[in-house]
Amino acid sequence: MTGGGGPFQDRIALITGASRGIGRALALTLGRGGATVVVNYKKNADLAEKTVADLEEAGGRGLAVQADVESVDGVEALFTTVQEQFGRLDHFVSNAAAGAFKNIMDMKPHHLDRSYAMNLRPFVLGSQHAVRLMDDGGRIVALSSYGSIRAYPTYAALGSMKAAIESWVRYMALEFAPYGINVNAVNGGLIDSDSLEFFYGVPGMADQATVLDRIPKGRAADVQEVADTIAFLLSAGSEYITGQTLVVDGGLSVVAPPFFADARAPLSLPPRPTWDS
Ligand SMILES: NC(=O)c1ccc[n+]([C@@H]2O[C@H](COP(=O)([O-])OP(=O)(O)OC[C@H]3O[C@@H](n4cnc5c(N)ncnc54)[C@H](OP(=O)(O)O)[C@@H]3O)[C@@H](O)[C@H]2O)c1
Repeated sequence: MTGGGGPFQDRIALITGASRGIGRALALTLGRGGATVVVNYKKNADLAEKTVADLEEAGGRGLAVQADVESVDGVEALFTTVQEQFGRLDHFVSNAAAGAFKNIMDMKPHHLDRSYAMNLRPFVLGSQHAVRLMDDGGRIVALSSYGSIRAYPTYAALGSMKAAIESWVRYMALEFAPYGINVNAVNGGLIDSDSLEFFYGVPGMADQATVLDRIPKGRAADVQEVADTIAFLLSAGSEYITGQTLVVDGGLSVVAPPFFADARAPLSLPPRPTWDS
């Protein structure tokens, strides 16, 4: 199947960690829009090839590229492949992440070093490479999370890197605006993916049902809902947005104690009013 004039026709996109989860959903979304997508992965070659097959079926073109972005050489090799295969880039999405979920007092220096090397450095080094391959209209998006602005058990190493990502987005927006390149972040709340199950298995975390109950929308996000937000930031419609973090969390970050669910009358929410009430 060929693209047929979709919104991402003739665009070249690189997504780190696109074999699964949000990265895969975004690869398929861009593929449906006619893009050529470089599907980066670390271990799961079969899943990456499946993403490529599915996005090609949807109308795009794909290339699976193994590279461990935790290493400086891995990031460089990934972008060298993009340069050799396509000679340019329109969209760079820094999506892959991994963390040691530990209480602060249990963290060793290597946990701190790896958290930086895995979660922040690939975004900064990758953006340096991306800018060299982008023309006016280039777009960079990084994935952040709820832990960048709120604290909860065992997430410090990763949450602090996400906060740094949001700060870097502002600095990059400033320095890359003269090149015509926009830089933004998407901050996800609870998202229904492999990592959600893993995370709520960590000792010390509240159970998933309790946290879901605190979300005004009453549920986790689907990966597609996050992918759609990233796609918007890559699209022509977001031309005047740069240096921002778009929060996709069903309202989780705007609620504060006392939660309506905890409070007694008269703070509890009344039933939904009707036209006649
Ligand atoms: N899921 C959530 O609830 C949630 C909430 C907020 C924010 N986020 C953020 O959204 C992003 C995506 O999360 P996700 O849950 O969709 O991810 P995921 O399902 O856990 O998938 C992780 C992806 O990253 C790849 N990856 C892992 N380590 C890598 C490395 N060293 N080099 C290259 N690729 C690597 C994996 O490749 P392999 O398949 O080869 O291992 C896989 O494609 C992350 O930045 C995360 O922090 C997620």
